[in-house]
This record gives sequence, structure tokens and C-alpha cells, in this order.
Amino acid sequence: MAVKILWYLTSPDGPYPWLEQGRWDTDYDHLKQVATTADKLGFYGSLMGTSEYETLAVAASLIPFTERLKFLVAQHPGEVQPAVLAKYAQTFDAFSKGRLLFNVVNGNDVGLASLGIHYPHDERYDYSKEYWTAFQQNYLGDKTGFDGKFVKITPRHEPPIPMATWHGPTNLKGVPLWGAGTSEKGMQHSVELLDVYLSFANTPPLLGAKFKKVAEKAAKIGRTLEYGTRLQIIVRETEQEAWDYAQSLLDKIDVDYAIAAVKRQLPPNETFESYQSADPKIQKNLELLRQGILPKAKDFEIYPNIWIGPSWFGFDFLGPASGTTLVGSAENIAARIKEYEQHGTSAFILSGFPLISEAYRVAHLLFPLLDLDHGFDIPALNVADQTKISPVPEKTVA
Ligand SMILES: Cc1cc2nc3c(=O)[nH]c(=O)nc-3n(C[C@H](O)[C@H](O)[C@H](O)COP(=O)(O)O)c2cc1C
Repeated sequence: MAVKILWYLTSPDGPYPWLEQGRWDTDYDHLKQVATTADKLGFYGSLMGTSEYETLAVAASLIPFTERLKFLVAQHPGEVQPAVLAKYAQTFDAFSKGRLLFNVVNGNDVGLASLGIHYPHDERYDYSKEYWTAFQQNYLGDKTGFDGKFVKITPRHEPPIPMATWHGPTNLKGVPLWGAGTSEKGMQHSVELLDVYLSFANTPPLLGAKFKKVAEKAAKIGRTLEYGTRLQIIVRETEQEAWDYAQSLLDKIDVDYAIAAVKRQLPPNETFESYQSADPKIQKNLELLRQGILPKAKDFEIYPNIWIGPSWFGFDFLGPASGTTLVGSAENIAARIKEYEQHGTSAFILSGFPLISEAYRVAHLLFPLLDLDHGFDIPALNVADQTKISPVPEKTVA
């Protein structure tokens, strides 16, 4: 099995953007540079997560600066009417030659309510199912309308009635739908709807067990999905360099920062003083922290090359959540990716900070060690054929 490697394309950026002093002002020019870099280096696509900018608008604005990169655009159902989104998607695909993927996002009740979308958790998934079904039908050119519990669309007239002319689909299988959902309802929704099921990372066996559960649910309704995860990455020429860098990130925070991170991750009714972790390594880290000592980078390695140190999505002190990081030499990380692959993961949405220089590191060090399934030849960064290097012209004496 081969893998797809995607890169993160969401503000903010910086050497350690989780801290104010390590965060850059990520304006449009900067996003253009990240997109151009990921495209040129041969990443399969880029994750456009929810941020201060509207993701579909950002992705559309980057079409002219990229040739192959696909855009995995976070979209909450209901942000725009499904038929309107279908017409946006047809337009996006026509202009980008079919490079749109959607990341179906269902979480965040408070955020959705502030956009005018008011569904309780479980009902939101029923709504989402109708929304995306209606979206896909409209994208594919169905004009017969939709009569659901939540979504009602009347049949579309023929031209020249105003608004009746649509370009038509570029992707004849519909827009690929990626997405997540960890609750029971979220998983059932995922297996009915998605092409690629995403989860934040864990160790390869635990992530594999989650994907196996989803695959079993999918099989019951005759569906097969692909599986992807989201990881940060610190890849260096040697293992030592990678861990030194991880330590340098840890050195930027203090004990109070770590305690605040633990408190955010504590289960309900637990306190920093009383919580006991079932994992002896995490329990030892907690005990050190209670004595006012910040453990070392290697203490947060919960599985070979899997690190739960400080990261963009938080410091998952008590165990992997949304900010897990791969740390090691290219050989270490290639081995770990292959292990994830053996446990069913075929898409990896990676980010290393700063995004541009770390994208080069990943392409230079890691891509040559992986079997990539990107649908095109990966550009070689190393000039293997020395004859292609133009000789430095000799100085001519005047
Ligand atoms: C790889 C990945 C990317 C995600 N990106 C976003 C995002 O951009 N915006 C967002 O609001 N939620 C994002 N999420 C969160 C989930 O889509 C969703 O809120 C959650 O999985 C719902 O889980 P539940 O079924 O337990 O409610 C992402 C999740 C994953 C695994």
C-alpha cells in the first residue's frame, strides 16, 4: 500500500506558533508562499483548517499559484446552502481542474450556533447527512431537487430561466469527502458518507484499532473507506538532532504552562493534584510536574518516535489528543509511517513549523523513503545526475 502526504496550510505559522513570541503574522502573501512550496515539492494536498479566514475563499485564491496540489477545505454543513456550495464546488473544480476535497466538520456547537446553525449534537449529524447528500447530487448535475427532513430544494428549471445554467461537474465521482467523528453518532455518519475517515493520531496500534472499528461499521453497510491522520513532524538527518530540536521547543515553556495544559486535558471531576494516569510514563511526568520539575523531551515519547510535547494544537501532557508529533531521523519516521500504514492509515496530514522550511525538510529527507500515491511523479530535489549541474563558469581574464 502506498501513502498520501498532505501539508498544513492554515494560519498562523512561525517556529512555534503555539506561543505568542513564536507566531508570525500569516498574511495572504505568506499563505501563497506555503501553497506554492507544498505544490512545488509534490505534496498530495493541503489541509485548510478553520481559521480567521474563510477556508473556501483562501483555497480559491490559491488556485492560480498551484498546479497539482489538492485543497482539503474544512466545511461545516449549513455555512452555506448545499446547492450554493455545489455551485461553488463546480466552479472551483472547473478552474482548478478538479482539485477540491472537502473536510466535513461537524463539531463545535458554540461556533455553529454563532453562524446561525442550531442543531443538538446527534441531530446535527442527521442534518449533515442530508446536507452532503443534497450537495453531492447537485454537484453531479441532478436537477430534481431534494425533499428531506432538514433540506428542501425544489427542482431546477431549464435555461434560459435565470439561475438555471450551471457549468457541471469536473469530478464525475463527486467531490471527495474527508472528515472525522469520534462519537458513536459521528462514526455512523462517517461510514455512511465519507470517502476518507480522519482521526487525530495516537500510537499506530491504537489508531489502527479505532480505524478497524470504523471499517467494521462500514462493512456492515457494504462500504470501504480510506483512513487518514493528522500529525506534526520533526524530521532531521539524525535522531539526536530531532530530539535536540524537540527539547529546544520544550525549553520555551515553563512548569506553569505545562500545569495549565494538564488542567485543560483532565477528565471531568479530576484535579491536577489527584489525577492518576494508567500509563506509568505519563504518571511519572505528572509526579515530576507536581514537584515543579518539567520532564525532558524524551520523557514525552509515548511510543517510538511518537511525541506528546508542546505543539500547535496544544500540549497533550496526559496522552495523545490533537497535537501528536513524529520525532526522529528520516529513517525512523519512514519506519513509523510504514507501521501506521500496516495498521490501515494511508493519508498523513503533516505539519512542521515553520511550514515552508519544514516542508522542504520533509520532501528532501522523507519523500525518497516512502512509496507515495499522489497520482503524479514526485519532483526530485536531489540532483542525482551531476551532469545536470551547470559548471561554475571560469573567470575570464580581461
Ligand atoms: C484531521 C482533522 C482535522 C480537523 N479540522 C477541523 C477544522 O478545520 N475545523 C473544525 O471545526 N474541526 C476540525 N476537526 C474536528 C472534527 O471534525 C470534529 O469536530 C470532531 O471530530 C467531531 O467529533 P464528535 O463526533 O465526537 O462530535 C478536525 C478533526 C480532524 C481529525
